[in-house]
Amino acid sequence: MTEWQKTNWRNKPRVQMPDYTDEAALAKVEGQLSQYPPLVFAGEARRLKQHLGAAGRGEAFLLQGGDCAESFEQFSADAIRDTFKVMLQMAMVLTYGAKVPVVKVGRMAGQFAKPRSAPTEVVDGVELPSYRGDIINELAFTPEARIPNPNKMLQAYTQAAATLNLLRAFSTGGFADMSMVHSWTLGFTDEQDVQKYSEIADRIQDTIDFMNAAGITADTTHEFSTVEFYTSHESLLLEYEEALTRLDSTSGNWLAGSGHMIWIGDRTRQPDGAHVEFCSGVLNPIGLKCGPTTTADDLKVLMSKLNPENEEGRLTLIARFGAGKAGEHLPRLIKAVKEEGAKVTWVCDPMHGNTIKSATGYKTRPFDSVLREVRDFFGVHEAEGTIPGGVHFEMTGLDVTECTGGVRAVTEEDLSDRYHTACDPRLNATQSLELAFLVAEELTNLRRNGSKRAVS
Ligand code: PEP
Ligand code: CO
Repeated sequence: MTEWQKTNWRNKPRVQMPDYTDEAALAKVEGQLSQYPPLVFAGEARRLKQHLGAAGRGEAFLLQGGDCAESFEQFSADAIRDTFKVMLQMAMVLTYGAKVPVVKVGRMAGQFAKPRSAPTEVVDGVELPSYRGDIINELAFTPEARIPNPNKMLQAYTQAAATLNLLRAFSTGGFADMSMVHSWTLGFTDEQDVQKYSEIADRIQDTIDFMNAAGITADTTHEFSTVEFYTSHESLLLEYEEALTRLDSTSGNWLAGSGHMIWIGDRTRQPDGAHVEFCSGVLNPIGLKCGPTTTADDLKVLMSKLNPENEEGRLTLIARFGAGKAGEHLPRLIKAVKEEGAKVTWVCDPMHGNTIKSATGYKTRPFDSVLREVRDFFGVHEAEGTIPGGVHFEMTGLDVTECTGGVRAVTEEDLSDRYHTACDPRLNATQSLELAFLVAEELTNLRRNGSKRAVS
């Protein structure tokens, strides 16, 4: 076998990528990016891989979440802080349910490129190329805005670097103090409409009080005041990914320097395509979206290409079928994994199979469908004796109205109030936290059933 090269994807069929017309401008940007420092280091990617391996064994649980598409216009310290904050709250609630460490991975600091269901978009009889994310073109509906511009990769890199810098500061600079994180959650459960979660919240508080009394505080214990937070994005724009790929001198392996974890989308997972080729050669943990059209045979080929050494934590399978459909699709994929003896981490993305158009014309996702798909996912794994290793959400810490439902119900009529996403509808802060409580309940039940099984 010839050695992997970061340019090999160029010889493979590519889909969902822009055709840049200005080749000189593209080459210049690629040259610049390849001189820039990578955003992450190989040791971090390896450590995340270990954590994901633990999630695959049921010894940790993955919480992956963030924007569908990061945007240049909505870039702000407050938005980053709020998403980080709600992820920490969710993680604490999930830790309570799972009783294992929660691995926190943002769809942040690089989640800029979007696959689209159609190459063009028609508005009032005018047809233009689709918007493909701020790293490629612009959302505005004009012919100029939709031309792919390679210089946008430089702005994306800068925004990713600044985002990651702030996340690193928040992770270790005192913001992530466990007592503080939980006091935000207590504020949430104080309110009447969400009091049903207060029992869990109070029990977490008791645990924190007990630990503090025993001398375990933010001052004495590093784990109490800091968190590990990782970044991830879809590895879609391969010119950008290639330009940030670096050789790791300690292992002699290649690192995708654009983020800790990268994933392959449901539309770009062709076994012989460019995206699989690129991801096969980098050392990062790789996610693979599995949708209703994923066949057992394709999955087998993909597992052998993406994880030939059968390394734990290398491959995370992100199931996204839609509410009520996991029972139809997940068992055949679990069977394929079992037949190959493959080590994978199973994660549920209950967002991408549940997008609908509301009567008011907005793309939305009903909270109940999201929750139902999570429950389906847990149920199938329980029946198959396999491990649900985590969840993957499109969410924001902001108070948007993009998904309907939740205990503080967002109605179809409300969607127009604060609908800010550049792409798919996200859970808002309240819906995200509520979902974490509900998933924690599922995890608690699973543990109880599991331990009942173990003694019977
Ligand atoms: C996404 O995660 O934003 C996405 C487009 O997902 P999928 O590839 O599963 O449709
Ligand atoms: Co999306």
